[in-house]
Amino acid sequence: MSKAMVDRFGRIHTSLRIGVTDRCNLRCRYCMPEQVEFLPRAEILTFEEIERVTRVAVRLGVDKARITGGEPLVRRDVSELVARLAQIDGLDEIALTTNGLLLEEHAEELKRAGLDRLNVSLDTVRPDVFRQWTRRDELARVLRGLDAALRAGFTRIRLNALAIRGLTEDEIVPLVEFARDRRVEVRFIEFMPIDADRQWNEKAVLTGAEIRKRIEQKFGPLRSRSRPDPAQPAADFELADGTRIGLICSVTEPFCEQCNRLRITAEGQLRNCLFSQQGWDLRSLLRSGADDDALAEMMRACVAAKKRGHGTDEPYMLRPDRAMYQIGG
Ligand code: 5AD
Ligand code: SF4
Repeated sequence: MSKAMVDRFGRIHTSLRIGVTDRCNLRCRYCMPEQVEFLPRAEILTFEEIERVTRVAVRLGVDKARITGGEPLVRRDVSELVARLAQIDGLDEIALTTNGLLLEEHAEELKRAGLDRLNVSLDTVRPDVFRQWTRRDELARVLRGLDAALRAGFTRIRLNALAIRGLTEDEIVPLVEFARDRRVEVRFIEFMPIDADRQWNEKAVLTGAEIRKRIEQKFGPLRSRSRPDPAQPAADFELADGTRIGLICSVTEPFCEQCNRLRITAEGQLRNCLFSQQGWDLRSLLRSGADDDALAEMMRACVAAKKRGHGTDEPYMLRPDRAMYQIGG
């Protein structure tokens, strides 16, 4: 039972990404249609169930959890889940990825509950562009949320900006300036073929290399920083003034070889990859009275079936049957 989760390629799985809801209070065009049918409540794992799954995963070597969605903060009392996870021995880090809308209300309680890290998704700092991308006029709330998080004592906050050709070019410099002013890190993420309307095509990928060039034209050379964690997807850089910038080249330089992630979706499906076409139904096991060993067995089976790169190492990627909000970025 205490054996590590190692796949056929020797990748040791130490990171669990937990989707807590498929709901969201934005409608980013690349992620969700305006009208979505969400999962009924009974199909979503309870906090008790998530805690149990996490405990088993920790016994199998997981030491880091990230709470995702949908938008995790639209699920009631997420800080209660954080507090439960924070009590698990051996879980060294709990992080959360949010769009920031509800941070103003929740930053403090999340901090108190033991949340270690926050990633805030922010693709633009211009209100009109934000409204266009997300179909909601809520940039000001996100910015207040970010300030609340800084006040609550979150350090090492990261902004995640999705990079789409034709849209992101003009956002790069303002985002870097914004991050610099607030002393937070900003990371640009290449657009991956997991989107709502299947709009993705290779040409829509604004590459990390291009983003780097644009940043350097404006701010001068980027210095490489070493990766503290070899499994992290971002290449880290900094400007001469110390502003931290990350490039996640998920399409042009896939990092599958280092992948250490296992996912559980809001409805309790294990997935071994964002691009996986298959899920393992852990919820049925949980609700049929299975013991921890049986849960562990399914986790190990899911990891054992992991493919080398799920098509991300091929010229075109295989599309999963779901968008990001249903998997948990
Ligand atoms: N490619 C890359 N990132 C994506 N996200 C959503 N859809 C995609 C995609 N197709 C990101 C969001 C957010 C995080 C949860 O996932 O921009 O930062
Ligand atoms: Fe919501 Fe995130 Fe999807 Fe935007 S990308 S609609 S914030 S889940």
